[in-house]
Amino acid sequence: MISELQQLEKDALAELAGAATEEQILAVKTKYLGRKGLLTGVLRNIALVPDAEKPIFGKRCNEVKEVLNGKIDSALCLQSTRKKEDILLKEKIDVTLPGRGVFCGRIHPIIQVRREICSIFASFGFSVVEGPEVELDYYNFEALNIPQDHPARDMQDTFYIEEDVVLRTHTSPVQIRTMEKMKPPVRILSPGRVYRPDSDISHTPMFHQVEGLLVDRGVTLGDLKGILTAFLRKVFGEKTILRFRPSFFPFTEPSAEVDIRCVMCSGRGCRVCKQSGWLEILGSGMVDPAVFRNVGYDPEIYTGFAFGLGVERIAMLKYGISDIRLFFENDIRFVRQF
Ligand code: DAH
Repeated sequence: MISELQQLEKDALAELAGAATEEQILAVKTKYLGRKGLLTGVLRNIALVPDAEKPIFGKRCNEVKEVLNGKIDSALCLQSTRKKEDILLKEKIDVTLPGRGVFCGRIHPIIQVRREICSIFASFGFSVVEGPEVELDYYNFEALNIPQDHPARDMQDTFYIEEDVVLRTHTSPVQIRTMEKMKPPVRILSPGRVYRPDSDISHTPMFHQVEGLLVDRGVTLGDLKGILTAFLRKVFGEKTILRFRPSFFPFTEPSAEVDIRCVMCSGRGCRVCKQSGWLEILGSGMVDPAVFRNVGYDPEIYTGFAFGLGVERIAMLKYGISDIRLFFENDIRFVRQF
């Protein structure tokens, strides 16, 4: 019986050595150590062994069982290590490849310039108010003294929602809404989107304006000049040269457009200033008494000035951008330059 046992151990070890896959190893395990396995069978026959040899035989059986179990376990372990190595080799990652960058956004240049304008006027004591973009004809035109037959009220120049509702064409209606709500002194700034049916290299159907209004007793044209000069020198530099050019707006009297010496050519004449040496920056004027009467202010007691400027125009001049449409293409490569 002992020699049978020895032969069995030899055979099992030989078969194990030849087992190349997990399945084959497990098959050897079942064949020898399984419930109906060969070693189990030998053990069952222990009754046939003479009593004197039983202890030695039992001990040998256990030794063989332990040896086989140990060898099978380490064969399985080796097998699973090989499997992992195979996977690692197959799924190898080239860690020397350059990584993909993480791109940061930026505050849009229009928002940056709008914030700068608001913070300069905040330092002059102006507070920010906002108004609706879908506006009544009354606030956009009528109350601002813009007559019924004014060309700006044409279908070609204004987006009409209904007969008496428009997309506001400027931020000036916020002047009226503010004065209807509060008594002087008034010192407000109103940034926002405005709409006109234009589209070319210097016009987009939506753009941004900032409106300003200051009303009190004894406000003069000198105050308008002083505040706007201080503002433009903060935006374009302390040495900026300005000119106040007589103009016309229905809601101001007198009216002035403010120009600065061309920032591109310093006044020598170039494409940007159309050879004039000057750049139009904003519209302004002393609030027309007719506008005051529309909101119930007494023009004999109060005077004031107002102004309106285009945010895109200032951003284009500040950053040297030649096509307004670039602002709205939503191209991160453009936005990240500012
Ligand atoms: N609303 C004018 C425009 O869109 C700009 C403007 C001019 C606003 C003179 C004013 C002003 O408040 O006084 O062209």
